[in-house]
Amino acid sequence: MASLPDLGSAAAGGAMKEEQFDLRHVWHPYTSLTSPLPTYEVVSAKGCSLFLRDGRRLVDGMSSWWACIHGYGVPELEHAAEEQIRKMSHVMFGGIRHASATGLAARLVELTPEPLQYVFFADSGSVAVEVSLKMALQCQGTLCPKGTRTRFLALRGGYHGDTFGAMSVTDPEGSMHSIYRDFLTPNFFISRPSCRFGDPWDPACCDELYEVLREHHEEIAAVILEPVVQGAGGMYFYHPEFLRKVRALCDYFGVLLIFDEIATGFGRTGKLFACHWAGVVPDIMALGKALTGGFMTMSAVLTNEKVMKGICTGRAGVLMHGPTFMANPLAAAVSCASVDLLLSSPWQERVRRIDGWLRQGLLPLGGHPAVAEVRVLGAIGVVELKDPVDMGALQKFFVEHGVWIRPFGRLIYLMPPFVASEEEIRLLCCAVAEGLDFHGAGAGSREN
Ligand SMILES: Cc1ncc(COP(=O)(O)O)c(C=O)c1O
Repeated sequence: MASLPDLGSAAAGGAMKEEQFDLRHVWHPYTSLTSPLPTYEVVSAKGCSLFLRDGRRLVDGMSSWWACIHGYGVPELEHAAEEQIRKMSHVMFGGIRHASATGLAARLVELTPEPLQYVFFADSGSVAVEVSLKMALQCQGTLCPKGTRTRFLALRGGYHGDTFGAMSVTDPEGSMHSIYRDFLTPNFFISRPSCRFGDPWDPACCDELYEVLREHHEEIAAVILEPVVQGAGGMYFYHPEFLRKVRALCDYFGVLLIFDEIATGFGRTGKLFACHWAGVVPDIMALGKALTGGFMTMSAVLTNEKVMKGICTGRAGVLMHGPTFMANPLAAAVSCASVDLLLSSPWQERVRRIDGWLRQGLLPLGGHPAVAEVRVLGAIGVVELKDPVDMGALQKFFVEHGVWIRPFGRLIYLMPPFVASEEEIRLLCCAVAEGLDFHGAGAGSREN
């Protein structure tokens, strides 16, 4: 067993020991422990700023992986957490109900399209995806008792999380499929819609979808996709008409439709939910990330009467899922406060203004020799490069330039909190512009 160093001192020596301990013993997402990328110690966060131990302030362009839509140190969320903590931070949900969960369920039923009335609370986005898949499988077990509808149809370029069910519907090439192939359920994949958001609609976009559904619908429980914006799989924006066509084809072939709104939900694209771009309602909708305003982890899955009844009249008679921290009262109380804060804020105007500032700052970068494409939708700005970035080097460059931006693959993107000011967005865009020169000057040619 490793001997724990003295971590007590906040002085420079203590901080150094902590850094060394972290480097040697702590996994960070998708990094190696034998050749770790650097990490930066954040000691506090307020508004759109992260503060490092050495006193530097970084303007946050990530909303902590797209969750902290209100920024950090938000009094309304902190107050809700403090109030709830005084009552209870947690209590099991089996056989018990509490006002935080009931209040949150009522808000979500009210907020999401009308047929979605039945709420399951889970712990993270990935688990919400697992629950969505289970709902579809259990429901199809009733609708189609032959038991053949056990697979899913998903889009290439999609990302739905890191647990096994979620991985099995995530892009098979750009993900962990190759490593876990033997453990993943083989599902069907079709190309992401070639028709971009804002371009004229091309009906040929649905040809592959139609063909796979026509041939395999008796094997498919549900189609699962991220509506309008594919996030971690490529930051790709596609035509909302695709959602209408998917809905119609799913209805025709008796296949359920799952929308993963974990990244797009709560206003990020300029609509409260991305499905509003198409006026389409899925059978199952997964929410997470900004549900708590990024304050802590929680997710939810909403479904309609058909799926609810399918599950409840099925073989098990109940939905086979029930995590220990289901409907955690603290997270639910904060989520209620976050939803209320969002709805009482001028969020549409804020996202619209961020959209404009991102266009102003990023679109001119389309002419940079290192850039393949720039795209902006709502509070999402994406600069797609021709070559992969050197993430460690570019991240360090951004930190030295006073911003927190985490590029990946060939993408440098911004998803700032909705409360970001024009000056903060300008700083972020300028740093991206300078980062392109840094990347073009050779950093991009190094291996990630
Ligand atoms: C669309 C989508 N679905 C699911 C997930 C997984 O969520 P979590 O990381 O909370 O498990 C993510 C995370 O980035 C996501 O973007």
